[in-house]
Amino acid sequence: MTENMKRIALSAAFLSLLTLGACSGEKGEVKLGVEQEKAMSERLAPAGEVSLVGEVASAPAAGNGGGSRSGSDVYSTSCKTCHDAGMAGAPKLGAPDQWAARIDKGMDTLYTSAISGFQGMPPKGLCMDCSDDELKAAVDYMIDGSQ
Ligand code: HEC
Repeated sequence: MTENMKRIALSAAFLSLLTLGACSGEKGEVKLGVEQEKAMSERLAPAGEVSLVGEVASAPAAGNGGGSRSGSDVYSTSCKTCHDAGMAGAPKLGAPDQWAARIDKGMDTLYTSAISGFQGMPPKGLCMDCSDDELKAAVDYMIDGSQ
C-alpha cells in the first residue's frame, strides 16, 4: 500500500515536472524564435548591402565586358580623394605648377610611381583591383588636366 502511494506520488511529481518542462520549453522556444528572427534579419540586412555594394563596384568592369575603366573613372573612384585636395602633399589635378617638375621626369616614371608607389603616393593609389593600364589611363587623365 505504501509502496503504491509512493509510486503514485512519484509519478505525479514526474508528470508535473514533465508538464512544467514542456511549458517552459515551449516558452523558451517561442522567445528564441523571435530572437532568432531578429538576429536573422539583422544578419541578412548587412549581407544584402554588401552584395549590393559588390555588384555596383564590379558593374563598370563587367559592363565593359571585362574591359578597363577609363582614366577619369579610375581618377574619381581612387585618386580624387588625395589629388583633388592635395592631401599629404599630393599634386593637385589642374595645378600645372605642381605637376611640371613631375612631368619632366617622363611619363614612364609617373606610370611607375602610380603602379608601384612613390613616397606619399601609395602603390596603385590604393586601387587594388586596377590594372596597370587603368592606372596609366588615370595618370594620363591627371596629366592632361594639369598642364
Ligand atoms: C592616399 C593618397 C593618394 C591617393 C589615393 C593617390 N595618390 Fe597619387 N600621390 C599622392 C601623394 C602624396 C603624391 C606625392 C608623392 C611625393 O612626391 O612625395 C602622389 C603623387 C602621384 C604622382 C606623381 C608621382 C611622381 O613620380 O612624381 C602620380 C602620377 C600619382 N600620384 C598618380 C595617382 C593615381 C593615378 C592615383 C589613383 C589611381 C593616385 N595617385 C592616388 C597621394 C595619393
